[in-house]
Amino acid sequence: MPEGSATIPAPVLERLHLSTQPDYVDGPVRAFAVATVFWGLAGFAAGLFIALQLAFPALNLGLEWTTFGRLRPLHTSAVIFAFGGNALLFSSLYIVQRTCRARLFGGEDAGWFLFGGYNLFIVVAATGYLLGITQGKEYAEPEWYADLWLAVVWIAYLVVFGGTILRRTEPHIYVANWFFLSFIITIAMLHIGNNVVLPVGLSSRSYTFAAGVQDAMIQWWYGHNAVGFFLTSGFLGMMYYFIPKQADRPIYSYRLSIVHFWSLTFLYIWAGPHHLHYTALPDWAQTLGMVFSIMLWMPSWGGMINGLMTLSGAWDKLRTDPALRFSVAAVGFYGMATFEGPVMSIRAVNALSHYTDWTIGHVHSGALGWNGFIIFGALYWIVPKLWNKPGLYSTRLVSWHFWLASLGIVLYAAAMWVAGIMQGLMWRAYDSLGFLQYSFVESVAAMHPYYVIRAGGGVLYLAGAVLMAVNLWRTIAASAASAVPATLRAA
Ligand code: HEM
Ligand code: HEM
Repeated sequence: MPEGSATIPAPVLERLHLSTQPDYVDGPVRAFAVATVFWGLAGFAAGLFIALQLAFPALNLGLEWTTFGRLRPLHTSAVIFAFGGNALLFSSLYIVQRTCRARLFGGEDAGWFLFGGYNLFIVVAATGYLLGITQGKEYAEPEWYADLWLAVVWIAYLVVFGGTILRRTEPHIYVANWFFLSFIITIAMLHIGNNVVLPVGLSSRSYTFAAGVQDAMIQWWYGHNAVGFFLTSGFLGMMYYFIPKQADRPIYSYRLSIVHFWSLTFLYIWAGPHHLHYTALPDWAQTLGMVFSIMLWMPSWGGMINGLMTLSGAWDKLRTDPALRFSVAAVGFYGMATFEGPVMSIRAVNALSHYTDWTIGHVHSGALGWNGFIIFGALYWIVPKLWNKPGLYSTRLVSWHFWLASLGIVLYAAAMWVAGIMQGLMWRAYDSLGFLQYSFVESVAAMHPYYVIRAGGGVLYLAGAVLMAVNLWRTIAASAASAVPATLRAA
């Protein structure tokens, strides 16, 4: 050994925050983060456009490609699979390497394959929607050719994620990785299970394997668990990593996080039939879905409490760190959506809420509040780290983003709740002779002001996201002189 270069023991290096970490694969993680922002803006803009179409139908423009029917799945897929999916990928690939202290299995090549493959799927699916190619199953609209490709990419994701866990140098598998793993495995199972089809020759069309009520049951087993595992389990993985990091506190209760994981994973998979109340689905199956949905309230709130209590002793940070405000508010919205969901799954309540905008209000308090906010919090935390910068360009802009987006959600959700309950009540109102009191079109006309208010909420939410994009862009573009040397970066 050359003189003067005696090795410093790893624990000492760690205490000095000097890196003993493996050479993490961060290039694709950065690309996923950029794609998250890009697809977020695209998806919110599409949401705003279809919201305006519902208020002002002339915006369908008289063209088949721009009708509400084609743009709606473009919006749902852009926000769930493109915005949410890219966020799940950047966070899971970042987190699994750090918490396992292991380089990504498959290295750079595997990471870039996942990035290119996943985003190619999104583009192929989106062009299909505009051309009117669809399986007609909500959240599973892409036809067989796109589905096959996604299956390949998703199995590769499982191999890369699972392989990284297997080569870990930490003895323990951190709870966030359990949530990510259950999300990846279950989505593979749901995607393949719900897309067993027979292509019609070499055309872009197909016939589903199951028919009638069986097909509906499989579709909502998929649809509900897309919410349960894509929009919930994976996002809980983010919560369990980013909130402790942002608050600089350990999780409130690690034991509770394990109970949370197993109870949520066991219960979610049975709740799908609550989407099919009062249909040809057997009564017992509807009741099963309802009972499991009500039971879901407990693990959901256990997880929410665990997330919020992690801030014990650090609540003052909310005053100075608006990025943490996003993450904490996200957990609050998670609690709200998971309280409302079980209530709506009760058959008598669903008789009023189903087919109405109440469901849309529920969806967006979860989607905008829980999914959107936790992603924003994560991006604000991770971007300076990934691009090796000391901090964000502007915390004031983060604060503006927070208040604009929060006000946007309030307008959106409040308008939809009022609109939904009004619709439900109008549809079931009878006059003294037993005739329906309102025609359907009267209930449509009554919605107009609420649709305008909802679009206003969308404008605010989108405006906040534009501020975020500017802020992150300026952070990344900040001069190289302000960069933090790689060896001084905290893991
Ligand atoms: C600027 C923000 C947004 C606006 C203005 C917006 C607007 C809309 C509109 C107008 C619809 C159609 C409602 C209907 O058919 O009656 C819709 C549906 C939907 N949106 Fe959004 N959206 C936004 C953001 C998001 C985000 C961030 C997510 C998810 C992460 C999301 C998920 C969904 C889902 C899942 C549906 C389908 C709901 C259902 O079928 O019950 N949206 N959105
Ligand atoms: C304990 C948790 C939850 C339960 C039991 C639950 C239950 C329900 C129920 C009963 C419906 C209405 C079904 C219908 O009438 O057709 C619904 C719709 C929906 N929920 Fe939840 N929910 C929960 C949490 C969440 C969360 C956290 C999100 C995240 C964004 C979410 C997203 C959705 C979506 C997207 C729909 C619309 C599905 C469609 O297109 O029809 N839910 N949920």
